[in-house]
Amino acid sequence: MSISIRHQLEPSDCFFLFAWRLLPDVKRWSIKEAPSWPEHLLYFEDLLNAQQERRIRAYVALVHGMPAGVLVTVNGEVNIMISELHRRKGVAKALIRAAQEQEPHLIAHVIIGNVVAAKLFASSDFQLAATTQKAHKACVTFVWRPKDEERPDHHSGE
Ligand SMILES: CC(C)(COP(=O)(O)OP(=O)(O)OC[C@H]1O[C@@H](n2cnc3c(N)ncnc32)[C@H](O)[C@@H]1OP(=O)(O)O)[C@@H](O)C(=O)NCCC(=O)NCCS
Repeated sequence: MSISIRHQLEPSDCFFLFAWRLLPDVKRWSIKEAPSWPEHLLYFEDLLNAQQERRIRAYVALVHGMPAGVLVTVNGEVNIMISELHRRKGVAKALIRAAQEQEPHLIAHVIIGNVVAAKLFASSDFQLAATTQKAHKACVTFVWRPKDEERPDHHSGE
Protein backbone atom coordinates (compact mmCIF):
# COMPACT_ATOMS: atom_id res chain seq x y z
CA MET A 1 0.00 0.00 0.00
CA SER A 2 1.35 3.42 -0.90
CA ILE A 3 1.00 6.05 1.87
CA SER A 4 2.17 9.60 1.26
CA ILE A 5 1.79 12.67 3.44
CA ARG A 6 0.65 16.07 2.25
CA HIS A 7 1.85 18.77 4.67
CA GLN A 8 -1.23 20.95 4.40
CA LEU A 9 -5.01 20.94 4.23
CA GLU A 10 -6.66 21.80 0.94
CA PRO A 11 -10.25 23.04 0.43
CA SER A 12 -11.12 19.68 -1.15
CA ASP A 13 -10.43 17.96 2.21
CA CYS A 14 -13.50 19.59 3.75
CA PHE A 15 -15.95 16.79 3.00
CA PHE A 16 -13.52 14.01 4.00
CA LEU A 17 -12.98 15.63 7.40
CA PHE A 18 -16.73 15.97 7.90
CA ALA A 19 -17.32 12.29 7.09
CA TRP A 20 -14.53 11.24 9.47
CA ARG A 21 -15.77 13.51 12.30
CA LEU A 22 -19.09 11.65 12.13
CA LEU A 23 -17.61 8.14 12.43
CA PRO A 24 -18.99 6.47 15.59
CA ASP A 25 -15.61 5.97 17.25
CA VAL A 26 -14.34 9.43 16.30
CA LYS A 27 -17.48 10.89 17.95
CA ARG A 28 -17.02 8.64 20.96
CA TRP A 29 -13.36 9.49 21.51
CA SER A 30 -13.46 13.21 20.63
CA ILE A 31 -13.26 15.91 23.22
CA LYS A 32 -15.43 18.13 20.98
CA GLU A 33 -19.06 17.35 20.12
CA ALA A 34 -19.85 16.04 16.62
CA PRO A 35 -20.67 18.95 14.29
CA SER A 36 -23.58 19.67 12.00
CA TRP A 37 -22.63 20.42 8.37
CA PRO A 38 -22.92 24.24 8.85
CA GLU A 39 -20.80 24.01 12.02
CA HIS A 40 -18.24 21.93 10.16
CA LEU A 41 -18.07 24.47 7.32
CA LEU A 42 -17.23 27.24 9.82
CA TYR A 43 -14.72 24.99 11.61
CA PHE A 44 -13.01 24.08 8.33
CA GLU A 45 -12.83 27.71 7.21
CA ASP A 46 -11.22 28.57 10.57
CA LEU A 47 -8.75 25.70 10.10
CA LEU A 48 -7.71 26.97 6.66
CA ASN A 49 -7.24 30.49 8.04
CA ALA A 50 -5.28 29.21 11.03
CA GLN A 51 -3.10 27.14 8.71
CA GLN A 52 -2.37 30.17 6.53
CA GLU A 53 -1.45 32.20 9.63
CA ARG A 54 0.66 29.22 10.88
CA ARG A 55 -1.37 28.87 14.08
CA ILE A 56 -1.96 25.18 13.27
CA ARG A 57 -0.17 22.55 11.25
CA ALA A 58 -1.96 19.86 9.28
CA TYR A 59 -0.82 16.58 7.76
CA VAL A 60 -3.06 14.63 5.38
CA ALA A 61 -2.35 10.95 4.67
CA LEU A 62 -2.98 9.93 1.07
CA VAL A 63 -3.44 6.28 0.11
CA HIS A 64 -3.08 5.86 -3.62
CA GLY A 65 -3.57 9.62 -3.84
CA MET A 66 -6.87 9.75 -1.90
CA PRO A 67 -7.24 11.28 1.59
CA ALA A 68 -7.24 8.51 4.22
CA GLY A 69 -6.65 10.39 7.47
CA VAL A 70 -5.61 13.67 9.01
CA LEU A 71 -3.50 14.91 11.90
CA VAL A 72 -3.84 18.52 13.04
CA THR A 73 -1.69 20.16 15.72
CA VAL A 74 -2.38 23.33 17.67
CA ASN A 75 0.71 24.32 19.69
CA GLY A 76 1.80 20.70 19.37
CA GLU A 77 -1.52 19.27 20.61
CA VAL A 78 -2.51 16.39 18.35
CA ASN A 79 -5.91 15.62 16.89
CA ILE A 80 -5.90 12.55 14.63
CA MET A 81 -8.52 10.48 12.81
CA ILE A 82 -8.32 7.87 10.11
CA SER A 83 -10.96 6.72 7.63
CA GLU A 84 -12.48 3.36 8.61
CA LEU A 85 -11.42 1.93 5.23
CA HIS A 86 -7.75 2.51 6.02
CA ARG A 87 -7.43 1.47 9.64
CA ARG A 88 -4.71 -0.88 10.92
CA LYS A 89 -2.44 -0.25 7.95
CA GLY A 90 0.01 2.12 9.62
CA VAL A 91 -1.64 5.32 8.35
CA ALA A 92 -1.83 6.92 11.82
CA LYS A 93 1.77 6.00 12.58
CA ALA A 94 2.88 7.53 9.26
CA LEU A 95 1.08 10.78 10.14
CA ILE A 96 2.68 10.87 13.59
CA ARG A 97 6.14 10.27 12.11
CA ALA A 98 5.57 13.20 9.70
CA ALA A 99 4.58 15.46 12.62
CA GLN A 100 7.60 14.27 14.65
CA GLU A 101 9.86 15.41 11.79
CA GLN A 102 8.37 18.93 11.87
CA GLU A 103 7.40 19.77 15.43
CA PRO A 104 9.56 20.46 18.49
CA HIS A 105 7.16 18.58 20.78
CA LEU A 106 3.78 16.87 20.64
CA ILE A 107 1.06 16.26 23.21
CA ALA A 108 -2.04 14.07 22.97
CA HIS A 109 -5.01 13.84 25.34
CA VAL A 110 -6.60 10.40 25.08
CA ILE A 111 -10.00 9.77 26.68
CA ILE A 112 -9.65 6.93 29.18
CA GLY A 113 -10.80 3.73 27.49
CA ASN A 114 -9.51 4.62 24.02
CA VAL A 115 -7.14 1.68 24.03
CA VAL A 116 -6.29 1.91 20.33
CA ALA A 117 -5.18 5.56 20.58
CA ALA A 118 -3.19 4.80 23.74
CA LYS A 119 -1.43 1.98 21.87
CA LEU A 120 -0.78 4.24 18.89
CA PHE A 121 0.93 6.95 20.98
CA ALA A 122 2.81 4.50 23.20
CA SER A 123 4.23 2.75 20.14
CA SER A 124 5.18 6.11 18.57
CA ASP A 125 7.64 7.03 21.37
CA PHE A 126 5.20 9.15 23.39
CA GLN A 127 5.46 8.93 27.20
CA LEU A 128 2.49 8.75 29.52
CA ALA A 129 2.67 12.03 31.46
CA ALA A 130 -0.47 12.70 33.47
CA THR A 131 -4.20 12.30 33.82
CA THR A 132 -6.40 15.30 33.22
CA GLN A 133 -9.99 16.43 32.53
CA LYS A 134 -10.89 17.87 29.11
CA ALA A 135 -14.46 19.11 28.68
CA HIS A 136 -15.47 16.95 31.69
CA LYS A 137 -13.90 13.86 30.13
CA ALA A 138 -11.17 11.97 31.98
CA CYS A 139 -8.07 11.74 29.80
CA VAL A 140 -4.53 10.49 29.91
CA THR A 141 -1.91 12.80 28.47
CA PHE A 142 0.92 11.51 26.29
CA VAL A 143 3.92 13.68 25.41
CA TRP A 144 6.66 13.32 22.84
CA ARG A 145 9.95 15.17 22.61
CA PRO A 146 12.89 14.43 20.34
CA LYS A 147 15.31 11.92 21.89
CA ASP A 148 18.11 14.48 22.36
CA GLU A 149 15.95 16.53 24.71
CA GLU A 150 15.27 13.48 26.86
CA ARG A 151 18.97 12.93 27.63
CA PRO A 152 19.81 14.27 31.13
CA ASP A 153 23.31 15.32 29.94
CA HIS A 154 21.95 17.27 26.95
CA HIS A 155 22.64 21.03 27.03
CA SER A 156 21.37 23.15 24.16
CA GLY A 157 24.01 25.17 22.40
CA GLU A 158 26.85 22.77 23.24
C1 LIG B 1 -6.65 5.63 16.74
C2 LIG B 1 -6.54 5.66 15.21
C3 LIG B 1 -6.11 7.07 14.79
C4 LIG B 1 -5.49 4.61 14.77
O1 LIG B 1 -5.37 4.69 13.35
P1 LIG B 1 -4.72 3.50 12.46
O2 LIG B 1 -4.26 4.09 11.17
O3 LIG B 1 -5.66 2.36 12.41
O4 LIG B 1 -3.45 3.08 13.36
P2 LIG B 1 -2.13 2.33 12.84
O5 LIG B 1 -2.52 1.33 11.78
O6 LIG B 1 -1.08 3.32 12.49
O7 LIG B 1 -1.74 1.49 14.13
C5 LIG B 1 -1.13 2.12 15.26
C6 LIG B 1 -0.97 1.11 16.39
O8 LIG B 1 -2.26 0.81 16.95
C7 LIG B 1 -2.57 -0.57 16.79
N1 LIG B 1 -3.98 -0.67 16.45
C8 LIG B 1 -4.63 0.02 15.49
N2 LIG B 1 -5.93 -0.34 15.51
C9 LIG B 1 -6.06 -1.28 16.49
C10 LIG B 1 -7.18 -2.01 16.99
N3 LIG B 1 -8.42 -1.85 16.49
N4 LIG B 1 -6.97 -2.86 18.02
C11 LIG B 1 -5.74 -3.03 18.56
N5 LIG B 1 -4.64 -2.33 18.14
C12 LIG B 1 -4.82 -1.48 17.11
C13 LIG B 1 -1.67 -1.06 15.69
O9 LIG B 1 -1.42 -2.44 15.79
C14 LIG B 1 -0.42 -0.24 15.90
O10 LIG B 1 0.33 -0.76 16.99
P3 LIG B 1 1.84 -1.31 16.80
O11 LIG B 1 2.65 -0.16 16.27
O12 LIG B 1 2.24 -1.71 18.17
O13 LIG B 1 1.69 -2.42 15.82
C15 LIG B 1 -7.89 5.28 14.52
O14 LIG B 1 -8.36 4.05 15.06
C16 LIG B 1 -8.97 6.34 14.68
O15 LIG B 1 -9.13 7.22 13.83
N6 LIG B 1 -9.75 6.25 15.78
C17 LIG B 1 -10.83 7.17 16.05
C18 LIG B 1 -10.33 8.55 16.43
C19 LIG B 1 -9.38 8.52 17.64
O16 LIG B 1 -9.53 7.73 18.55
N7 LIG B 1 -8.40 9.45 17.59
C20 LIG B 1 -7.45 9.61 18.65
C21 LIG B 1 -7.95 10.67 19.58
S1 LIG B 1 -6.68 11.07 20.77
